Amino acid sequence: MVVSAHPLASQVGAEILSRGGNAIDAAIAVQFALAVVYPDAGNIGGGGFLVLRQKDGSVDALDYREKAPAAAHRDMYLDQEKNVIEDLSVKGHLAAGVPGTVDGMVKAHEKYGSMPWRDLVQPAIVLAAKGFPLTKKEAKKLNQQRADFLKYNTQRPSFILQHRWHEGDSLYFKDLARTLELIRDKGRAGFYEGPTANLLEAEMKRGKGLITKADLAAYQSVWRTPISGQVGKYRIISMPPPSSGGIALIQLLTIAQDYPLPAWGWNSVKSAHLMIEAERRVYADRAKHLGDPDFYKVPVAGLLDTAYIRRRMYGYSPGEATDSDDVYPGIPAPPESPHTTHYSIVDTQGNAVSVTTTLNSSFGCKVFVAGAGFLLNNEMDDFSAKPGYPNTYGLVGEEANAIAPGKRMLSSMTPTILEKDGKLYMVIGAMGGSTIITTVYQIIQNVTRFGFTMQGAVSAGRFHHQWLPDWVLAEWGALGPGTGVGLWVKGHKIAPKYGGIGRAAGILVLPDGRLEGGADPRGDDAAAGF
Ligand code: DON
Repeated sequence: MVVSAHPLASQVGAEILSRGGNAIDAAIAVQFALAVVYPDAGNIGGGGFLVLRQKDGSVDALDYREKAPAAAHRDMYLDQEKNVIEDLSVKGHLAAGVPGTVDGMVKAHEKYGSMPWRDLVQPAIVLAAKGFPLTKKEAKKLNQQRADFLKYNTQRPSFILQHRWHEGDSLYFKDLARTLELIRDKGRAGFYEGPTANLLEAEMKRGKGLITKADLAAYQSVWRTPISGQVGKYRIISMPPPSSGGIALIQLLTIAQDYPLPAWGWNSVKSAHLMIEAERRVYADRAKHLGDPDFYKVPVAGLLDTAYIRRRMYGYSPGEATDSDDVYPGIPAPPESPHTTHYSIVDTQGNAVSVTTTLNSSFGCKVFVAGAGFLLNNEMDDFSAKPGYPNTYGLVGEEANAIAPGKRMLSSMTPTILEKDGKLYMVIGAMGGSTIITTVYQIIQNVTRFGFTMQGAVSAGRFHHQWLPDWVLAEWGALGPGTGVGLWVKGHKIAPKYGGIGRAAGILVLPDGRLEGGADPRGDDAAAGF
């Protein structure tokens, strides 16, 4: 089964599985297909994280996160007075980090792939060259971005039409199809060298961006040891730094384990209050302690220590909201030694892959590499441009996540796999910037503690708190009038989140071995399987 943000990408993955490909083969094909049919986030000009659990129980994690270009520096988004220049890290060429996706897919294939590389890239080429029908939501999003596409591109992208896009219109990307052919035929070199690298460097020069051919040649994705932790009956396997997701998720689930949430009821005042208070504290830790482990000593063991996590709930009162001004990041024990759009797949053997991949904002920095036809990320905004200055998601950071050449920016992406009694249980992850962690957290709780189905857990309303800003974001209807008022009485500030919080894709292994997909109704997401 494959669950992804677009029905055509799910179909591509299911087709690879039915031809005998394994979960990694399908993941590679889905990544490339999403780069065509879901250009808002699917990409070859961005990056991501992949968490794998093989049928024998062995686990692995691939970090293909973007890196700051060599010419990047700590204050690159500040003016003379050291104030952050609005939008510079968000839109246009300077917002782009060095892309990691193609190198990541090549490395995943070298280590775990079973089908020929070209067969995995080919379905995306067909979609890009022949075109595919636009969904209603995608047509709307392309129309919304039109002004930005015109403003930030140095050459007008071919798909910017005079008229508005409509559902069912056929969209194709000829330049992207040619770039994908180079990747199909030459692997890594098809992207990081030759014509594609030349076009990307030329694009950067025209748009005053920083990425050079040397940056591209130097880019390497890395295999990392997944974060894992036992919470109750479940083993959580998730992404380590440079994502904050795995650590934050295990902290949140560990705290919740100490409280009788099922007895308190789903999204009741008591449950929601406890979860919000936990989130407030966990995101304060994120802001202080998390960053690229290759540049900053992240105190992973200290942050995951159960006694430390419990101590973080100091000041929690069942009766009232804590003021975020009174919450400070914790001081975890130092490490003993130096440490260093979501889709879920389960193949016929029982291998599982959980991938979150991104350009950061919708359509990244809005810049297409002219002639090569792909969009670039704006992942540089995930760095802390200045201590305490909020990024696009309102997240703040300090030294741990300051900009440095070659450094990876901190992420919230949380591709996760759960085991129960040593067996594969769930594959889950989400999009949604800072809300990814709380989305994955709530879905896991919905299934493991409140008895929801996979689909029910993904569909259910969500809420979110991230320490700063000090408010609870809630989807319409997620809290119900009783809970909303009850939280307000305790002193929580509640803000409605229109358009939804996070978008998730999950697969649950049912007791009889069948798979249940959870595709998010907030998007065009679809499960495909056989
Ligand atoms: O890595 C991160 O945390 C962000 N760049 C993820 C961006 C995201 O989920 C976009 N969706 N709203």
